[in-house]
Amino acid sequence: MKHRGVTVWFTGLSGAGKTTITKAVAEKLTSQGCKLEILDGDIVRENLTKGLGFSKEDRDINVRRIGFVSHLLTRNGVIVLVSAISPYRAVREELKEKIGDFVEVFVNAPLNVCEDRDVKGLYKKARTGEIPQFTGVSDPYEPPTNPTLECRTDLEEEEESVTKVLKTLEELGYLD
Ligand code: PPS
Ligand code: MG
Repeated sequence: MKHRGVTVWFTGLSGAGKTTITKAVAEKLTSQGCKLEILDGDIVRENLTKGLGFSKEDRDINVRRIGFVSHLLTRNGVIVLVSAISPYRAVREELKEKIGDFVEVFVNAPLNVCEDRDVKGLYKKARTGEIPQFTGVSDPYEPPTNPTLECRTDLEEEEESVTKVLKTLEELGYLD
């Protein structure tokens, strides 16, 4: 399938479903022959941004580095799927400006739903204080005010979210 380079930026709380949706979208696009890369916070932090923590300063560095790589790939025709909490609106806006071909997807489930899921057991540790500065519990998350797309993962099935993302990319002329 012919496509144009674009950064699809999935932002949201831990456990909202960023990685899940990203992987499913990647599978669909790959099966259609698209060139894509995934930049997932958990993986990036083991490599590109190893050693960084979760202070505002470190998160901003992490997110900007992801944005830098994503920009390089995007301008070379790659579809880049970024899944990172990226809690600060200003940095997301900055990257949107810089990259241009940028689709912001707000992966949204209420905090209590993410916390009930607690897939990795991190919320429990955040509540006891074992993990400090945990997004949504003891650290801020600034939701997008005008995302390209919102996926309410507590209200819609994974399949519906994936379809919405693909449809948006099509409508914006990134896929044909
Ligand atoms: S950020 O804010 O964009 O720099 O975060 P990101 O690179 O996406 O990394 C988020 C993953 O790190 C794990 N983790 C934490 N998240 C939030 N706050 C704290 N304090 C924290 N400590 C570890 C967690 O597995 C996140 O992954 P997801 O996929 O979001 O659950
Ligand atoms: Mg994840």
